[in-house]
Amino acid sequence: MSTLPTDDSRPPTMDRPLHIRQVEEADLPELVRLDAEAFPEGPYPFFTLRQLFDLYPDHLLVLDGGESGLHGYVLVGMPRDAGRGWILSLGVTRDRRGRGHGRQLMREVLRRLRDDAVHEVLLTVEPANTAAIELYRSLGFLAESAPRKDYFGPGADRLVMTLHL
Ligand SMILES: CC(C)(COP(=O)(O)OP(=O)(O)OC[C@H]1O[C@@H](n2cnc3c(N)ncnc32)[C@H](O)[C@@H]1OP(=O)(O)O)[C@@H](O)C(=O)NCCC(=O)NCCS
Repeated sequence: MSTLPTDDSRPPTMDRPLHIRQVEEADLPELVRLDAEAFPEGPYPFFTLRQLFDLYPDHLLVLDGGESGLHGYVLVGMPRDAGRGWILSLGVTRDRRGRGHGRQLMREVLRRLRDDAVHEVLLTVEPANTAAIELYRSLGFLAESAPRKDYFGPGADRLVMTLHL
């Protein structure tokens, strides 16, 4: 299992350092807590995260703060059509946002996808989620011309964004 130090250049704080690493089965309860904090309006149930872990363990990365627990994660789903990946989720705990961790998680998972010969990465984002949209744009993702109406059900429009690696 590889462990990468983050490259946050801000002054040290009590709860650093954070490391990006691949998820482990023992992380699941903590991952459920983290997901519920990042997505309070629609968190994954435990069983869904469990099965996503079973399906895509290589592309589920966590931001590990050691004794302070997990502070972020990114999850990629890989459909059967080889060469394509979907960013299914990206979240950072509120106390650690704005420090470059979301970008680091994305960069690391994109690096791994490149190594796996993935050439197209897609994601959906809530159209008013400016922070996420700006992050994805800065990484080279391009948005469709307009959000897709009711993508996740009535009233849940989503903007689809694509990156060619
Ligand atoms: C989206 C999210 C993962 C970003 O994580 P983060 O660690 O705060 O982001 P970073 O510090 O790495 O910022 C990366 C870039 O995102 C953009 N960004 C981050 N916060 C922003 C904000 N409040 N407003 C506008 N842009 C913002 C900027 O482009 C930033 O680059 P910069 O620092 O060079 O300006 C985080 O806000 C989050 O977990 N939100 C809740 C869950 C969520 O919405 N996930 C995305 C689902 S599609």
